[in-house]
Amino acid sequence: MRQNPLAYLDAELSALREQGLYRHLRILDAEQKASTSFDHHSVVNLSSNNYLGLTTHPRLRERAGDALQRLGVGSGSVRTIAGTMEIHMELERRLAVFKKTEAAVVFQSGFTANAGTVSSILGRDDIIISDELNHASIIDGARLSRATIKVFPHRDIDAARAILEALPVASRKLLITDGVFSMDGDLGPLPALCELADRYGCVMMVDDAHASGVFGANGRGTVDHFGMHGRVDVQVGTLSKAIGVLGGYVAGTRALVDFLYHRARPFLFSTSHPPAVAAACIAALDVLESEPQLMERLWTNTRLFKAGLQALGFNTGGSESPITPVIVGDGGLAMRLSDRLFQEGVFAQGIAFPTVARDRARVRTIVTATHTPQELQFALDAFARVGRELRIIG
Ligand SMILES: Cc1ncc(COP(=O)(O)O)c(C=O)c1O
Repeated sequence: MRQNPLAYLDAELSALREQGLYRHLRILDAEQKASTSFDHHSVVNLSSNNYLGLTTHPRLRERAGDALQRLGVGSGSVRTIAGTMEIHMELERRLAVFKKTEAAVVFQSGFTANAGTVSSILGRDDIIISDELNHASIIDGARLSRATIKVFPHRDIDAARAILEALPVASRKLLITDGVFSMDGDLGPLPALCELADRYGCVMMVDDAHASGVFGANGRGTVDHFGMHGRVDVQVGTLSKAIGVLGGYVAGTRALVDFLYHRARPFLFSTSHPPAVAAACIAALDVLESEPQLMERLWTNTRLFKAGLQALGFNTGGSESPITPVIVGDGGLAMRLSDRLFQEGVFAQGIAFPTVARDRARVRTIVTATHTPQELQFALDAFARVGRELRIIG
């Protein structure tokens, strides 16, 4: 009989089970909303990136439905062959205006936007200087580029400067940070990093996946929030989080976008979005302009919930955004906290190694504009009960 050559995977999975780190996918059996149902269990949902509630916004539904009827369900090709529809071009023009850049290019996801861009604009002879907590898609893009990768400790400007100081002046360098760090909710120190990029002649790149729709005027992101327009050469955003749909994009000069049209491998070798996706994203940009109260509500809820967790005595790290981690240290404890909260009607995902460092496991919470004060209080009461039960708080 043939031996199973993948048997070693069973051993790895057993090890995860023993460490209490084995996860079942939670199945959403309703819409992606602030209160919903996962695994046939009603919960207050603190785990989605649906910051503004746009996944179910009537204007997005309507525009997606209209595009679906007019243009069909798929694009039928990669962008560079027959899969560029006028609606894709309209979305790119709208994103460039939104980000105040010359041009923008849409990718299938934020992941492919980062990985496809970093791996194509840098090569073997170049150097990437990267925050240690940058997103996995940046790390993978950096590896694919074959450039030398220099990692500086999280948000440590002095360490980044020391790395740059030691590099050959003539080398091509990319300095890269997340705008909002997805596991900690803190911000990349953009003004100081842009200074460094200017001084040492680096290409400056920011991944604003969690900042677009959340920070800056009408959600233009951390580049706008910090007044850094014109100082960041490559701005990445996603259409999958606050925008509520699917996709990623890169905004910058016309030349950058033209280059990515020719060299970014996910753009060249993977089919473009269905027209309904592009239509819904355009509608989302309209909503960001016309309904600023959504962002205001997001921030009111963020302040209320973060203050509530801190008053209970939880360690929420250095979060400055709607992402608030509850850091407990041990991976098994984070998963127990998450599971008990779920039983109490609150879905807050447990996150452990390798997504975060072994001793920094946590439950991550994300509030949205659409949570009611009652839902947030319900969640805080559950955190208080379970936190005491597990002796995380006194
Ligand atoms: C910081 C950051 N960048 C990029 C991505 C990838 O975005 P997407 O989900 O659109 O692929 C994520 C999402 O997980 C993220 O948190």
